[in-house]
Amino acid sequence: MALAPRVFLTAEQIQNRVRAMGVQISADYPEGPLYLISILKGAFMFLADISRQIKTPSRIEFMGISSYGRGKTSSGEVRVTKDLDASIEGHHVLIVEDIVDSGVTLTYLMNVLEQRRPKSLAIATLLDKPEKRLRPVQVSYVGFQIPDEFVVGYGLDFAEDYRNLSDICVLAEDADITGPGNRDRGAGTGEKSLNP
Ligand code: PRP
Repeated sequence: MALAPRVFLTAEQIQNRVRAMGVQISADYPEGPLYLISILKGAFMFLADISRQIKTPSRIEFMGISSYGRGKTSSGEVRVTKDLDASIEGHHVLIVEDIVDSGVTLTYLMNVLEQRRPKSLAIATLLDKPEKRLRPVQVSYVGFQIPDEFVVGYGLDFAEDYRNLSDICVLAEDADITGPGNRDRGAGTGEKSLNP
């Protein structure tokens, strides 16, 4: 089946917003080091861009998170698959995410990181889908609030495809979203995969 990504946010719109977020974050964190912690894989592109817009001296860290069950439901299990390489105790920490859907990932991660006694802990996300929230999460910096559409590009995938697009796109409605394999990031009720 052919999938036709439709541009939802252009690269220029994204870059303009990322620049503004960088100005705001730089002002809010006058002193470094600021630890920018990004969750693999989807946030890699946002991290690369926002980190270059933040003037505060920053350090870059990655974490891997995996979830079990059918999508990340409120009962879904979450665990760390790749941990930080450094201690964050006593440091300002900003989690850099590509998208907040259910809030399950960030609720878990905030709990994990809070136990490590950072000086401060906050969240920056490029995209926020408030309609999908199952767990309340306090997000300090939001690039765009978006409706419940399945978005890809700029790091976001559909069955591992489309991450390298510069724009953020919505997949055409004829995309098959009934199969197993991918995360619940769209308008459907189940998990998603690209069926041939
Ligand atoms: C996405 C995104 C967040 C998470 C948000 O990751 O990067 O980490 O989902 O969803 P939630 O608010 O419902 O928990 P995904 O699991 O798709 O992995 P990926 O980043 O490797 O694509």
